[in-house]
Amino acid sequence: MKNMRAAVFASGTGSNFESIMNDTERAVDVVLLVCDRSDAPVLEKAEKFGVEASVFHPKTFASKATYEQLVLDKLREMNVAWIFLAGYMRIIGETLLKNYEGRIINIHPSLLPQFPGKDAIGQAYRAGVRTTGVTVHYVDEGVDTGDVIAQREVPVLPDDTEDTLAERIQQTEHQLYPAVIRQLLEQPE
Ligand code: GRF
Repeated sequence: MKNMRAAVFASGTGSNFESIMNDTERAVDVVLLVCDRSDAPVLEKAEKFGVEASVFHPKTFASKATYEQLVLDKLREMNVAWIFLAGYMRIIGETLLKNYEGRIINIHPSLLPQFPGKDAIGQAYRAGVRTTGVTVHYVDEGVDTGDVIAQREVPVLPDDTEDTLAERIQQTEHQLYPAVIRQLLEQPE
């Protein structure tokens, strides 16, 4: 059977986009990057992998629904079945949720429900927890509230700075996200 087609939504560096591209190719065809910033480094990565990128500027639209309708049109045009959020700094609205129910997943750098929202690594570091981690979860209308698919713990070491902790969390993300995608989508041989 042919692979499912997917889009990655990302606004930033794109290290998770890269790990998805490198480690899921037998499970899924990533055919589109949706990005909301024209200066995001992830755009160069998409070019390197030959993935089409659509850059939309949500603030130039009258409403979230109008913006998402345009994104939805593009996703349909490209036959996209799954959406992987990877550092996409926006809340997904009703238009996309309704049309991709159960087919939008996200990666978050904490053990949800702990430390949802922005700066999850900093939140955990400042709280002084001894263990934090990474969560891959389905996306619902809340902020990092959807059903958890998989989690992996990352210890906070006594000599960690926020940066060294962030580095280990990112390494864990780069293993966990592709592994979950493979598990969800890989077709039997
Ligand atoms: C990751 O830490 C991810 O968990 C969060 O945003 C960050 C994106 O990093 N949602 P990158 O752009 O993939 O390097």
